[in-house]
Amino acid sequence: MIKPKNIVLFASGSGSNVENIVNYFSKTKTANITHLFCNKPDAFVLERAKRLKIPATVFSKLDFYDTDFVLNKLKELDTDLIVLAGFLWLTPPQIIKKYTNKIINIHPALLPKFGGKGMYGMHVHQAVLANKETETGITIHFVNEKYDEGKILFQAKVKVEETDSLDEIANKIHQLEYLHFPKEIEKICLS
Ligand code: GAR
Repeated sequence: MIKPKNIVLFASGSGSNVENIVNYFSKTKTANITHLFCNKPDAFVLERAKRLKIPATVFSKLDFYDTDFVLNKLKELDTDLIVLAGFLWLTPPQIIKKYTNKIINIHPALLPKFGGKGMYGMHVHQAVLANKETETGITIHFVNEKYDEGKILFQAKVKVEETDSLDEIANKIHQLEYLHFPKEIEKICLS
């Protein structure tokens, strides 16, 4: 029998993807969601983690970039895969080095379009609308030392209608994320 992988999640905001991933892996034996790391003490994802009984650690910029606090915790947790699910800080080099091709991110657009620093959440959808794009989508990719530039593993598209509001686009993207992200994580765990 294949040993289940230990997955840790990183998030910065609401955490609806975190909740969806935790629910998905509570029904399969491929992976255990062992921990949540969050950089915002008041993020709603921490309330979700409490309810879902996922242990959580809140860390500061200093912890992340100037110490081995997070790296040591990842080692302690015997981490196999790091999943960034709505996490907004650049991953520091010491973590990339230790977990090369073991960190994945979801981005709410079709990279390489609409990526890079400052391109997150609603800012991405705003840019898609302003650019009059006829389609948008999601990208799941490996994380390297630059924002949104690691190898692309998966993309899915959705049409943007002329009448779509910002919230409608955000909702379409979230639906794509809920459908595909857990399955793509599972594929990586089994590969
Ligand atoms: C998601 O749409 C995710 O793709 C995006 O933040 C949202 C988080 O939603 N990530 C980025 O923009 C990263 N650049 P959630 O907190 O409800 O899961």
